Amino acid sequence: MSADSIHVELDPASELVNPFARPVGPAAIVIFGAAGDLTKRKLIPALCNLSSDNLLAPEFAILGIGRTALDTASYRERVAEDIQKYATHEIAPEVSKALVERVHYLAGDFNDPKTYEGIRAQLAEFDKKHGTRGNHLYYLSTAPEHFAGIVEQLGAAGLVTEKDGQWRRVIVEKPFGHDLDSAIELNAKLRTVLRESQIYRIDHYLGKETVQNILVFRFANGMFEPVWNRQYIDNVQITVAESLGVEGRGGYYDTAGALRDMVPNHLLQLLALVAMEPPTSFEAEAVREEKAKVLRAIQPLSPERVLTDTVRGQYGEGYTDGKKVAAYRSEDRVPPKSNTETFVAMKLSVDNWRFADVPFYLRTGKRMARRVSEIAIQFRRPPLLLFRNTPVEHLSRNVLVIRVQPDEGITLRFGAKIPGPSVRMSNVAMDFRYKDHFKQAPSTGYETLIYDCIKGDPTLFQRADMVEMGWGIVKPMLEVWGALPPRNFPNYSSGTWGPKEADELLDRDGRKWRKIEE
Ligand code: BG6
Repeated sequence: MSADSIHVELDPASELVNPFARPVGPAAIVIFGAAGDLTKRKLIPALCNLSSDNLLAPEFAILGIGRTALDTASYRERVAEDIQKYATHEIAPEVSKALVERVHYLAGDFNDPKTYEGIRAQLAEFDKKHGTRGNHLYYLSTAPEHFAGIVEQLGAAGLVTEKDGQWRRVIVEKPFGHDLDSAIELNAKLRTVLRESQIYRIDHYLGKETVQNILVFRFANGMFEPVWNRQYIDNVQITVAESLGVEGRGGYYDTAGALRDMVPNHLLQLLALVAMEPPTSFEAEAVREEKAKVLRAIQPLSPERVLTDTVRGQYGEGYTDGKKVAAYRSEDRVPPKSNTETFVAMKLSVDNWRFADVPFYLRTGKRMARRVSEIAIQFRRPPLLLFRNTPVEHLSRNVLVIRVQPDEGITLRFGAKIPGPSVRMSNVAMDFRYKDHFKQAPSTGYETLIYDCIKGDPTLFQRADMVEMGWGIVKPMLEVWGALPPRNFPNYSSGTWGPKEADELLDRDGRKWRKIEE
């Protein structure tokens, strides 16, 4: 996502748009947690997509590390099956065969130095056999409690030392810490072994095309930036709603909850992209610094404001896609009296010149009415009552909706005259849909991130201070909520838009959540 990966396609409408420029250089990827869910559902399909788009170098190999006792042959069989099952689109048999042949597996304990001796030997062989030239990417796709230990072991084994032009990088999955203190501690531990430039903290939302498009939309078009401020914007609403429940992840989720799981990372990243100032260039540091400034400008809420400006919820039973579904407390590995929130809504303010007094309303939850992620920029109403008998407060606001998923695109809603002799108005929409315009094959969202990491471009990854600021923003909520257990859980039915308190949060400000149409 750096300047050199931005291309101007003059007439992309009928072309298959490939957002990337060239294949990356030689590299070996070591995946810790190779037998896990993320690897089979996202990482392998993403590597397949990169490979089928010719974006990986021919000098490429993958080493999977896991505790599951498998050998390379049986792991390859699994990978071949996983490709069939989880690929985002049909992968040519020769592409999948070539990829599978480059996969090796090593069973081992992450805490055992012998595992790292095995890794060293395999990587040396890759360098010889596949020409990976000592460039090694370590992907930590394990449970978070292993992150620091793996990096320590990699350091002790000398596997992350960069010399003679060889690079060594580490992608750290989320969750990055459990709260502010643990994130600071993890950052400190990683930095005893790695330089900041070797650490790639991933947030998969930044790999989504529509999320990256926010920057292009804002800064490559002259017409939006002049109105992108407190003078014209009334409020911003960020919704990340999921219709699924916790889907077998009850064990993890119950110790995390919606706030930790979604807000310090995904939602605040979306907010930062919407609210940031234009960077001086698309270089990684310029972009990341502007995003960091936004996070710095969000004032942590006082305990009183936590009580008035945040809402938490937990789903009860209800209906999803016409099917009856169980309450959160009946999910597998969730305690029957769990007080973990599965929904959160909040009002934040960004205290800078551009956005002072513009509320940012955020909401996210599981088992909501439908799966939709969007950012709605609601503009102020016109200042004058021009139409007789039409009180200005009855006019709808102009809304710009950036639809992140699943129906990716951008919509601008405005009022238009209904044809006829009297002046009556209706809301209409101008709509841009990705799928109508670009013939982009479906992807996992991890492609760009893996590609960028191999290229050494950290623009879309989180810097240490950004992760810590994210946790700092939610810290007062974690503290107040921890001290005051909820008394009304479950407080929303599955298949709805969350608890009524979330509507009241906006009602009090004379506003409403944007009604998201079916
Ligand atoms: C993950 C969360 O980071 O994001 C999950 O841990 C959540 O709980 C997921 O379901 C949502 O991602 P997406 O890409 O499906 O919107």
